[in-house]
Amino acid sequence: MREKLENIRKEVETLLQQSDVNLEELRIRYLGKKGELTSVLRGMGALSAEERPIVGQLANDVRFFIENAIAVKAEEQKKEQMKMKFMKEKLDVTAPGNAVKVGKRHPLAKVEMEMWDIFLGMGFDIIEGPEVEYDYYNFQALNIPENHPARDTQDTFYITNNILLRSQTSPVQVRAMEKQKPPIRVISPGRVYRSDAVDATHSPMFHQLEGLVVDKGITMGDLKGTLELFAQKMFGPETKIRFRPHHFPFTEPSAEVDVSCFVCGGKGCRVCKGEGWIEILGAGMVHPYVLSNCGIDPEVYSGFAFGMGIERITMCKYGMDDMRLLYENDVRFLNQF
Ligand code: DAH
Repeated sequence: MREKLENIRKEVETLLQQSDVNLEELRIRYLGKKGELTSVLRGMGALSAEERPIVGQLANDVRFFIENAIAVKAEEQKKEQMKMKFMKEKLDVTAPGNAVKVGKRHPLAKVEMEMWDIFLGMGFDIIEGPEVEYDYYNFQALNIPENHPARDTQDTFYITNNILLRSQTSPVQVRAMEKQKPPIRVISPGRVYRSDAVDATHSPMFHQLEGLVVDKGITMGDLKGTLELFAQKMFGPETKIRFRPHHFPFTEPSAEVDVSCFVCGGKGCRVCKGEGWIEILGAGMVHPYVLSNCGIDPEVYSGFAFGMGIERITMCKYGMDDMRLLYENDVRFLNQF
């Protein structure tokens, strides 16, 4: 029996050398009701009266040994687990952080906001108009009656016969004049639509920025001065502007406006296609019919208006040759701005 007890002790000792031994299983196996030590103790009745206390003492020692060894091992295992946990959770405060990827403004938005700044600086307000517009505002009130050939170049998407996606930001002029009596000094940026097929210079959706000033005594000189200042802020202080006669139904006289090429300064280069000038907008003096359509007396008030394509100006400014780049959202392209 003593031998058996000694063996139990040795077995336990060996088992406890494994670091991941299951202590609960071990406890049940040796100390449990049906455990090995217990069954030895049960057999004690068969011992002689002299041997019994000695074996009893030994059995108690072994029990004590096992209990103690399990407790020590449990403590060890706990420490080991904590250590592993700390290793896993270790936070190296000196490690370089993971940089948060910050987005950037889209080049179109950047250019548009530059335009806002320039015009806000000249005392303009920014207003918005609907993209889904009535035929009346997009065409008729702007002196473009039904069947007028000017509609051909601005074919758009129709919702009904008289509701459409606006083909220009000019209808916002009419909305502004209906709402507000002069003096009026506003710009209105936004999306416009045309039923154009996509290519390097066309898109069925693009952006314009409209400008309108109406007051007593507004002249073409005011228009020129305003656009010159705009061009110089946008493209550099050396920039010159040039007016070419043109026709728009809602302005009289009308002009197309060019800026001197900001790349070559006017000598002729790839960007201006050898011209020395780059066309950037349409402008003119608000047609008297348009003023009266909006309830403003053309005998008392006069005004100027202009409209420019934001894509066009962005492409010129950054030397882009394909408009589609602006809509593809390729970060390799967008990251360059
Ligand atoms: N709305 C014209 C277009 O889309 C541009 C334009 C020309 C706007 C002359 C104006 C203007 O305000 O006066 O082609």
